[in-house]
Order: sequence, then structure tokens, then C-alpha cells
Amino acid sequence: MLDTAVAVVTGAASGIGAACARALHDEGVTVGLIDRDAEAGASLAASLGDGAVFVAADVTDETGLRDAVDTIADTFGGIDLAIGCAGVSGPFGRPIEEITVDAWNAVLAVNVTGQFLLVKHSVRYLRQARTPAVVLLASDSSFVAAPGMVPYNASKGAVLQLVRALSVDLAGDGIRVNCVCPSVVDTPMARADLGIEPGGFAAMGFPVQTPDEVARHVLYLASPASRPVNGQALVSDFGYLARSSFPA
Ligand SMILES: NC(=O)c1ccc[n+]([C@@H]2O[C@H](COP(=O)([O-])OP(=O)(O)OC[C@H]3O[C@@H](n4cnc5c(N)ncnc54)[C@H](O)[C@@H]3O)[C@@H](O)[C@H]2O)c1
Repeated sequence: MLDTAVAVVTGAASGIGAACARALHDEGVTVGLIDRDAEAGASLAASLGDGAVFVAADVTDETGLRDAVDTIADTFGGIDLAIGCAGVSGPFGRPIEEITVDAWNAVLAVNVTGQFLLVKHSVRYLRQARTPAVVLLASDSSFVAAPGMVPYNASKGAVLQLVRALSVDLAGDGIRVNCVCPSVVDTPMARADLGIEPGGFAAMGFPVQTPDEVARHVLYLASPASRPVNGQALVSDFGYLARSSFPA
């Protein structure tokens, strides 16, 4: 259903973004990968082969991101899907007095402003697409707060409301905007935060999902199979959010 589409994926050099790029490409989607990690991004694009291009850019740099989006649109003749995966976790396990304004701003810049800029500079192409969609990576932290991660939690709450606001503003253009909200995913980000080696999650005693599982949720929200779904959050957290505190 997606095989004529062109997708731009930010944060595509690692973790969930890389899994999304692979999953989209496997479905026949032409993919334009964006990341600030030029080496890993170029390597992934080369491994995907035809129908994949990498453009290095920092999502917080408006000019650089706009140029990267324009390059991908020029290369492939448009953009149908904008997938925002670039993100950082920022200070972890820190009380608020120890969080500098610079650290706070850095998290908000990538996780919120970066997503805003992706949509801002993709929208003129999305308006020309037959079945356009935007899917942004939010988090279960859009709804619940992991301790010691004040900037991250705040940023992911903002992404959820960004998605709702964009879905309202872009509905008239037929552009759907949704987000995916996973709990812990086995990626370099989560492993670094929790001090876990690759392969180490299996022994941790709490449920962890793979980047490929998240990519399948992104595929669903990007595809016409989810045509009536707009402004929504797909929460993949093994049911934690549904659990009452009732002690039974
Ligand atoms: N891993 C988890 O447990 C988890 C859970 C819920 C949500 N998420 C979200 O999923 C998304 C992907 O996270 P991940 O776990 O795959 O992390 P990751 O660290 O494996 O990958 C993030 C990618 O984003 C890129 N990136 C970071 N800042 C950038 C910038 N300014 N410009 C361009 N690229 C930049 C990095 O280079 C990296 O390639 C993030 O938005 C994250 O918040 C992750």
C-alpha cells in the first residue's frame, strides 16, 4: 500500500529511526534518511541500496534541516510521509536543581523544536501527496513521568500536544498526524540511560520492546490502513498505563 511513497525519516542512523527506515524500505517505500551522525546514516543508506539516500543534518538547525528535506524531495520527486524519530534523553537521574538551562534547552530543541521543524519544512511536499501522513516518536513519557528525567518528560508531553495541534491544523489538507508512545525500547538511548550492555535487557525483569516492533506501529500509522486515525497516540507499553492503583 505504501510502495509508491517517499518517506523522510529523522534520527534514522540508530535505534527506532533506523528500524523505521528499514521497515519502510522493506515495504517498497523510498526513504530519505536524516541524522546528525553522518557516518552511521550513510552506512545504513548504503546497506539499503536503491531507493535510499542519506542527508546529514541537525534537526535543531532550521536551515540545515530545510535543505535536507528539500534535497530528499528533489531527489525523489516529493515527500509523502514525514517520520520524526530524532530524540535525546538529556539529564537522567538528576534533581531539578542540578539541571542547567542549557541542558533543558538542548532536550527541548531536539525533541520538540526538531519535530516542529520537520513538519514545517515537509508540509509543502505533503500537501502534494496522495495519502500524506506524519508520524512522530513521542513516548509513554507523554503520559507518565519516569523519575529523574524532567526535561525529557516535559518534551514528550509537548510532542503529544504538538501532534494534536498539527492534526487539527493540517486536517484540511488531508495530512494525518499521529504519534507512537512506546515504553522502554532496546536501543542505544535506553541502554545508555540505564547502563545496560547490548543484550542485557533480557535479564532485567521488566518488559522491553524492540525497535522493529515500534517500526511496525509507525508503518501502520503511516499507511492508508489507518486512514480514519488522526491526532492520536498509539501507546505501546504492555498495558502499564491502563493499570489502576487499586490493590487487587
Ligand atoms: N529507546 C526508548 O526506550 C524510547 C522509548 C520511547 C520513545 N523513544 C523515542 O524514540 C526516538 C528514537 O530514540 P532511540 O531510542 O531510537 O534513540 P537512539 O539514540 O538510538 O537514536 C536517536 C537518533 O537521533 C539522532 N539525533 C539526536 N539528536 C539529533 C539532532 N539534533 N539532529 C539529528 N539527529 C539527531 C541520533 O544521532 C540517533 O541516530 C526518540 O525520540 C526517543 O525519545 C525512545
